[in-house]
Amino acid sequence: MSSARKMGWALVAGGLGLAALVLAVAFGAASARASTKIAGAPAKIADPSAVDAIHFDHTIHVGKYGMQCLDCHVYATESTVAGLPPVAKCMGCHKFVDKEKPGVQALATLWREGKAPVWQRVYSVPDYVYFSHEVHLAAKVQCQSCHGDVGSMHTVRRVTSLSMGFCLRCHEARHAPVACIACHK
Ligand code: HEC
Ligand code: HEC
Ligand code: HEC
Ligand code: HEC
Ligand code: HEC
Repeated sequence: MSSARKMGWALVAGGLGLAALVLAVAFGAASARASTKIAGAPAKIADPSAVDAIHFDHTIHVGKYGMQCLDCHVYATESTVAGLPPVAKCMGCHKFVDKEKPGVQALATLWREGKAPVWQRVYSVPDYVYFSHEVHLAAKVQCQSCHGDVGSMHTVRRVTSLSMGFCLRCHEARHAPVACIACHK
């Protein structure tokens, strides 16, 4: 499936999306159910050739300055989504740091205009798949298991397939649920 989706980070923090499940197709109409899913992003397909207007580099923030994943992706331990930081979080440092850099100036302009950057979505699963960061972090599964060594990536890229086989291989190894209903509610 395409991973090229656009995400407005302001939306990540809040929106409660109601996802109609499409498993009826797979399991027969009888098992179709409605379910709520906190949307990690609006399912908007982006232009695959589009790039982030502001380039965010994890190697600087995590690799060089030692920031923790949860400093910015603050919802991961308590909700389905990990979330992205609000622009105010960036400006907490960038009012002072690297003010002359074009990327930081672009960020400051958005902030003054009350806007948020739009990032290219990298990881996503279809709406008919239930996924929760919270349960995995509670079970001490590391970010790297699914996202690789993000702290060493100048641009986040997808390093795992997020296919059903990918999920199931670990679930079998870790004795986590493998019943269809666990992931297809
Ligand atoms: C200073 C804040 C900050 C820190 C610290 C940070 N990130 Fe991020 N992260 C971002 C921003 C902003 C984006 C969106 C831009 C991008 O994709 O690079 C992002 C994007 C991501 C994405 C891609 C999301 C998508 O579109 O699917 C992943 C995965 C991710 N971060 C994981 C991590 C992990 C793992 C760590 C710790 C090793 C970490 N991040 C630390 C700010 C941060
Ligand atoms: C805890 C402080 C802190 C926070 C929060 C922070 N940054 Fe940074 N940022 C830094 C530091 C330190 C540098 C590198 C300064 C240097 O080495 O010149 C940097 C560098 C940058 C640069 C310039 C990199 C370049 O080479 O052009 C951009 C753009 C940037 N950050 C964007 C962001 C964005 C977007 C966010 C919010 C998601 C963010 N930063 C959050 C501290 C922070
Ligand atoms: C077991 C696998 C797994 C682990 C562990 C995991 N993630 Fe994710 N992550 C995903 C999946 C799957 C998605 C796509 C979710 C969707 O489409 O709703 C995702 C999406 C994201 C996103 C995009 C925005 C969002 O909130 O959906 C960010 C950022 C992110 N993860 C960061 C992290 C960080 C930081 C950690 C560790 C604290 C982490 N993830 C641990 C699988 C994982
Ligand atoms: C690296 C290992 C690993 C990967 C990869 C992984 N999981 Fe998990 N998952 C776990 C563990 C461990 C648990 C917690 C089991 C427990 O608490 O009993 C879990 C729990 C869950 C639960 C909660 C199940 C329940 O009913 O309690 C769901 C839903 C889930 N995972 C979905 C997914 C999906 C969807 C993917 C792929 C996108 C995935 N997982 C990938 C290890 C993994
Ligand atoms: C641990 C989580 C997990 C479990 C358990 C699970 N699935 Fe899935 N399933 C997924 C994910 C993730 C995808 C999406 C794969 C993708 O995007 O390519 C998926 C996709 C599917 C699809 C769509 C496939 C396609 O080609 O589009 C069907 C049908 C399906 N699952 C059926 C099942 C059945 C039947 C079971 C029980 C025997 C089951 N799943 C158990 C995670 C799971």
